[in-house]
Amino acid sequence: MSEKMKLTAQQQAILDGEKGETLAKVMETLVRYGELFGADSMVPVTSRYNHLVTSFGLKALGPVYELMDKLIAEGAASQQKFSADPRPVDKNVPSSFLQNFVFDHFMYTKQNFYEEQLQKLGLMDRDAFTCACYMDQVGNTPQEGEVLSWSESSAVVYANSVLGARCNRNSGIIDLMGSVVGYVPYFGLLTDEGRKAAWIVEIKTTKKPEAQLLGSAIGMKVMEDVPYIVGLDQWLGGTLDDAAKTYLKDFGAATASNGAVGLYHVEGITPEAVRQGRELIAEGAQTYVVDDAELQRVYDSYPVVWKNKAAKPKLCFMGCPHMSLEQLTTWTCRVEEGLKEAGRDKVAIPTVFTAAPAVIKEFEATPYAGRLKQTGVVLSYICPLMYMNNPLSGKMPVITSSNKLRTYTTARYYTDDEILVQITKGGN
Ligand code: F3S
Repeated sequence: MSEKMKLTAQQQAILDGEKGETLAKVMETLVRYGELFGADSMVPVTSRYNHLVTSFGLKALGPVYELMDKLIAEGAASQQKFSADPRPVDKNVPSSFLQNFVFDHFMYTKQNFYEEQLQKLGLMDRDAFTCACYMDQVGNTPQEGEVLSWSESSAVVYANSVLGARCNRNSGIIDLMGSVVGYVPYFGLLTDEGRKAAWIVEIKTTKKPEAQLLGSAIGMKVMEDVPYIVGLDQWLGGTLDDAAKTYLKDFGAATASNGAVGLYHVEGITPEAVRQGRELIAEGAQTYVVDDAELQRVYDSYPVVWKNKAAKPKLCFMGCPHMSLEQLTTWTCRVEEGLKEAGRDKVAIPTVFTAAPAVIKEFEATPYAGRLKQTGVVLSYICPLMYMNNPLSGKMPVITSSNKLRTYTTARYYTDDEILVQITKGGN
């Protein structure tokens, strides 16, 4: 059947229909997809869990529901359990009557139906809805060297870079197919060669660079290439602790959304860079120097797409990708201190912090949860992008420190420090 791809007997059997017509079609799609990228073999998906990017029951996703139904009917479901991206709506998040009407009757009308399908197909737990599935509390944390079939770009770049797992930047459907059939085509970031850096990025800033801004600058420069970052370790304390992981989560999401980065190496910090060092740099790699002026240039280049640029923000979203426990606790203290300085009790702008349901659960068992609630900040499991992606929300002046949210919506980007001033002191 396949001319370029060398399949094992097991893989060929699936392709020949031994496990049913649907799985044969799925295998054929993966083989053809791999051939497009020059793959000559398929390798097993070795991670314990998969992660699905499509978590929202949008009316328009009919073909996805049909495929899911077929897979469930043919018993192709339970090969690999999985987590999924965040749910699109949460009644705790401030929204107007009209917005709720649009969410419930025009956009996410199939949410309950789709969640049922996910459950049948193998969702790892009823609440496994988060883009930060690799957090300890969620439990979908791949090991170094494991092969994945994921597609959420912020999770793929984290798994590749911080955890040393191996995954290409797949589309949602390819991700699902790879997980169902248990094989993915071997090319790109799965190979040693594909993990070599085509760029050396030298960090020469005078203070710790803002994670989301640095990620944006590097993403826009290297696009889909792999960067090897030198000089960031001094700002991350030299070890991959919880604070460094949180930083790299936000940094990576910005490289993946403002560019198309699927893997980065940070000298002295990320596992492959610690082990292999500069051997990871490909011959002829280009150099990009990031200093204070370069970060300022990138910041100044962001367009403000609000109709009224001087509008008072109506909402602030933090947590795209979802916040870590470390972030929730440090931000609780930061908001409290900011409010104290401003002589206020509650935040000046309705503010939503988003995190994985399992992280929220653990946070709620700490004294910080009550303190955060006191400040008026709302805690939610929502995906802010899903909230923003409609004309009604798009007209709202929303602020965020997420460069991914800025890129895909009308939300306006501010650095963490600027966000803190706005929400505690009232901004403009
Ligand atoms: Fe996560 Fe949604 Fe942002 S999936 S990275 S919160 S766009």
